This record gives sequence, structure tokens and C-alpha cells, in this order.
Amino acid sequence: MPDTATQAANTPPRSLVAGNWKMNGLQAALPEADAVAAFVAQADGGLQCDAMICPPTTLIAPLAQAVGTRLPLGGQDCHAAQTGAYTGDVSAEMLADAGASAVIVGHSERRAEHGEIDAVVLEKALAAHRAGLTAIICVGETLGQRDANLTLDVVRRQVHNSTPQSATPENVVIAYEPVWAIGTGVTPTLDDVANVHAAIRASLSDRFGATGQAVRILYGGSVKPSNASELLAISHVNGALVGGASLKAADFNAIIEAAHSVAAA
Ligand code: PGA
Repeated sequence: MPDTATQAANTPPRSLVAGNWKMNGLQAALPEADAVAAFVAQADGGLQCDAMICPPTTLIAPLAQAVGTRLPLGGQDCHAAQTGAYTGDVSAEMLADAGASAVIVGHSERRAEHGEIDAVVLEKALAAHRAGLTAIICVGETLGQRDANLTLDVVRRQVHNSTPQSATPENVVIAYEPVWAIGTGVTPTLDDVANVHAAIRASLSDRFGATGQAVRILYGGSVKPSNASELLAISHVNGALVGGASLKAADFNAIIEAAHSVAAA
């Protein structure tokens, strides 16, 4: 008979399906989010996964108004500082004030296009915690790194250097997103996803013990209704970070449904 601690360690964390709208969505997109909130709400607590939408910053407040407590919202990036002379930036406190409970940090589009190195991502994750937000920390190798057989080295380093020592299962989510799989329609093999997720889990467990077992590790990169079930069924895949397929409520709801079904099976 396994003891309680072993049982807890063997219970996979509850899945999270998070939608990353990126720089897409005007006020006209509010009904899409409302349809997701309605889908989650009609399950009346019976859904065996969590769902979240990370809209553009401009839509956080109106969406928070529209969906209320039915659907948590996240930002897509934040500045490390709380306030100051940082024209065009937004702080974690501002995201929280607008109604967000989480923020994506270190997305590969930020790492690549804004030169965000691990140390910057770590600062942003700490800022998220300062503001009471969950940091969804993205990691993932480029195609060149993959071809050079560096995937595990790169991902382990990013996880280690971008994750605060104060990580808990509530305030940190890791999202593994191979850069070459984002927006391309191409996904790694299921074995490859399993290997990377197992390596991330091992790193987190080595560093954080039981906490590391309970931190959610999402897969992201071309997740869609047709491949969600097989990806979500992989060991140590505790949900998905969904870009393009999160923009249409019907597709996103189908992915939430897939996460629910995998957890309920
Ligand atoms: P994608 O994007 O689902 O469109 O590939 C995922 C992401 O960048 O988070």
C-alpha cells in the first residue's frame, strides 16, 4: 500500500489548457471568450481540467468584466518593475489590476524578437509572483538546437535559469514549446514530447522535491482538436498552451474537452 505522500506524488497535477491569443483580438472577439467561459461554466465544476485565456492586454479588463469568475485570464508578458519610466510596457501589478491571475513569461517570440534571456525571464517570473500572478514560464529549443542534439540541454538550462527558487505548484507553470512547432502545424513525435517532459519533471523534482512533482508542465506548439488527446495523454504533459487554435471557441473548447476526457479516463 503506497503511503499518502507517494500517492500524492503519483497523482498527476490537474491539467491546464491555456489559450495564448498573441497579438490577435479586438473588442469583437469578446464573444469567443464568452463562449469558452460558458462551456466551462456549464460543466458546473465537473470539468477535470482548468482553462484560461491570455488575451492581448487591451482585452483583459473588458474580458474580466464579461467572463467574471467563470474563466481565469492571463497576460502575455510583463515588465520586471512595478512602475516607472518604461514607455509601452505593462507591469504584473497592472495585469492583476485589470483582472489577470497569470502571465506568460519567456515566450519564444519574446525571447527571439525582444532578446529576452533567461535572467530577464526570471525577473519577470519574480515580478509575477510579487503581484500575486502565476508565471507561465515558456521554454523550448530552436530547430538548429534540435538538429544539433541540444534539446534537453537547452530546455533544462532554460527551466533552471528562468524558474524562481520560490516556485510552487500554484505560482509556476512550465510550458514546453519547441520553437519550430509554434504556428507551423508540425509537432514533435509523441516519444520526443514524452522525453522532454520527463527531463523537465526530473529537473523540477531534483530541485524542488515534492513541489517539483506537482508543478504543471504544459506542451505547446500546433496543438489543435485533432492532436490534443494524444498529446495530453503523454506522461508529464499536464495541459497545453494553445496559440492559433485558441482563437475560435469551438476549437479551444474541443481541446478543453480532450483534456477533461484524458483526465477522466
Ligand atoms: P500555436 O502557438 O498553437 O499557434 O502553435 C503556441 C504558442 O505560441 O503558445
